[in-house]
Amino acid sequence: MTYDEKLQAFNDHIAAGGKVEAEDWMPDDYRKGVLKFIEMHANSEIMGALPEREVLPSAPTLKRKMSLCAKIQDEVGHAQLLYRVAEDLGKPRDAMVSDLVNGRSKFHNVFHYPVRHWGDAALIGWLIDGAALVTQASLRDSSYAPYTRVLKRICAEEQLHLRHGEDITLELASGSEHQRWMFQDALDRWWLAIIHFFGPRSNPEKDLLLRWKVKTETNENLRQEFLDRYVPKILELGFTIPAPVPYLDEASGHWLINDEDIDWEPLEGIKRNDGPETARRLAQRKAMYDDHRWVRDAMTEPVGV
Ligand SMILES: [Fe+2]
Ligand SMILES: [Fe+2]
Repeated sequence: MTYDEKLQAFNDHIAAGGKVEAEDWMPDDYRKGVLKFIEMHANSEIMGALPEREVLPSAPTLKRKMSLCAKIQDEVGHAQLLYRVAEDLGKPRDAMVSDLVNGRSKFHNVFHYPVRHWGDAALIGWLIDGAALVTQASLRDSSYAPYTRVLKRICAEEQLHLRHGEDITLELASGSEHQRWMFQDALDRWWLAIIHFFGPRSNPEKDLLLRWKVKTETNENLRQEFLDRYVPKILELGFTIPAPVPYLDEASGHWLINDEDIDWEPLEGIKRNDGPETARRLAQRKAMYDDHRWVRDAMTEPVGV
């Protein structure tokens, strides 16, 4: 078969809802696009462990500390699973971690921001894991089959993270004035970043990953799903949502945010790996990677050498 014939067969297979395995023939752009996408997901899991690690000492009880520790451990485990899937597409794990710690690849915007107090643990666990779960649940139908298999396990664990975050939030919401302030303060600082998390409106014409069904939903649909699911809950707890403020569209029943109300400017620096905490967190991750090199070497050196 010529390249064009192979490409046509591949496109037909995807259009008919077919899946792709690592060893199947795939166009270079598909391989590169999927690799970059899963690599960024893996990077985000491992970088997402850092803000929560920073908030760990402010856990109010040993039980809370232990459950947050378990969650952080899960996130690092997600990164391991995802790096393995990405590796099969042709980039060694060492190269991916090296690119990450040296600022040459990307991770999700929300992990470029500082944490201040225990209210951040509630918000991250409930709303950021909630946002991630909306995205990841849609990816379980992705055309790249190895990704969908690890997402099954990841999503199951994310459900637990969500409940963990919701539980802390409910405790703060029904607590003292200061406890309520902690969640409100976190919400005020994080809301715009959560709206950014889904990205600007998708362009299905240009987005190859959407056309090849690696991604199954547009950014705006995922953001809408998140808003419809979480805005009523946040308001029910008596918290105030800062700008960009969603409003209920009575006709459709959806909680909407107007495109022109979203300030995309803060995302620009983050896209260049120049967010408020990017340099510090990457340096921290690099220091750990360098410190632990001897463990990796010991594990990969032939026995007896
Ligand atoms: Fe995760
Ligand atoms: Fe999570």
